[in-house]
Amino acid sequence: MSVEDLLRAWGGEELVVRSDDGSGAWMLVGVHSTTLGPAMGGTRMKPYGSLEDATRDVLRLSRAMTLKNALAGLPFGGGKAVLAVPEVPTGEARYALMTRYSDLVRALGGTYVTACDMNTTEADMDVVARRTPHVLGRSAAAGGSGGSGPDTAVGVFHGIRAVCRHVFGSDELTGRSIAIQGVGAVGAHLAELLAGAGATLVVADVDPARAREVAERTGATTVGADEILTSPCDVLAPCATGAVITDETIPTLGCRAIAGAANNQLGADVDARRLQERGIVYAPDYAVNAGGVIHLAGHETLGWDDAQVAARLAGIDTTVTEVLETAERQGITTAEAAAGLASERITAARSG
Ligand code: NAI
Repeated sequence: MSVEDLLRAWGGEELVVRSDDGSGAWMLVGVHSTTLGPAMGGTRMKPYGSLEDATRDVLRLSRAMTLKNALAGLPFGGGKAVLAVPEVPTGEARYALMTRYSDLVRALGGTYVTACDMNTTEADMDVVARRTPHVLGRSAAAGGSGGSGPDTAVGVFHGIRAVCRHVFGSDELTGRSIAIQGVGAVGAHLAELLAGAGATLVVADVDPARAREVAERTGATTVGADEILTSPCDVLAPCATGAVITDETIPTLGCRAIAGAANNQLGADVDARRLQERGIVYAPDYAVNAGGVIHLAGHETLGWDDAQVAARLAGIDTTVTEVLETAERQGITTAEAAAGLASERITAARSG
């Protein structure tokens, strides 16, 4: 596909590409939509095979942020940045790269608001924030709202309850079996919330010590990282990496429903249909994991107190329910229903 075809298929507003002589990196910022507000989304830093791969990623990710922020009811559009580095830098080189990157964010004048994503940290956002105010996710010491993992977990918890109500007729979690793939910042906190609500847990992590530690605290059973997807359970909560639900894994899944934190859980769009055909209810990832953006935007930009943030996190239950019911009513996939609801909000804002 030519660059022109890629950009037309993307349908976004602005793609900024800067060559960073200091590091050999390409800096890309995709401003997909500013209809609902500044385009907000994190900065992903990693080596890519080519500039084209990096471009595809920033376009795809920025569009997903438009849907996520719209569905979460936030006054933000969607954007994303990619730092396509020869290798992930450390120390002085990293500081210098983040400083030059902050100049790019500043030059966009608030059209794009950045945050952490894969391989970027609160410390990086602290550096970016020295030269531009258009950044979320600084460390608490630098005036930020601290890690968003726990609030993301709370949002996933509400999403799981909505899914259980839809699939099993009750959101009572006592005795419900839930498998968590990945017990890091989000998964570990989710395990505690679910255990507190009486769920029976199975957890796995590529770091077995981490899985054991969470199991000891929550009474969960552990299985190997290669077994968690096939473990029999009511709900699977992917909280590790993306693209875990694929044409290869779908026939082997042991769950009745999926609701988790990981971004881009589906390997391809068509996997939503494959899940539906297998009778597995899929709560779209960006509806379920919006707790992270709610935490950041709520605390750092919108002036919400803890109670207001908690109410918005609980609203994920309502959103997921609306998505699942719309899909059922219209005979479409839950992925199509979520995208449709997000698009309706954007269209309403445009015409209103
Ligand atoms: P994290 O890096 O703290 O935890 C991920 C955990 O998954 C780690 O313990 C890692 O060892 C484990 N893991 C990696 N690959 C695995 C595999 N194949 N099988 C089993 N375990 C595996 O990340 P965090 O913050 O908990 O995020 C989890 C997911 O949720 C990520 O995909 C992230 O993009 C997404 N997410 C996180 C948000 C947040 O606020 N932290 C917000 C929205 C999405």
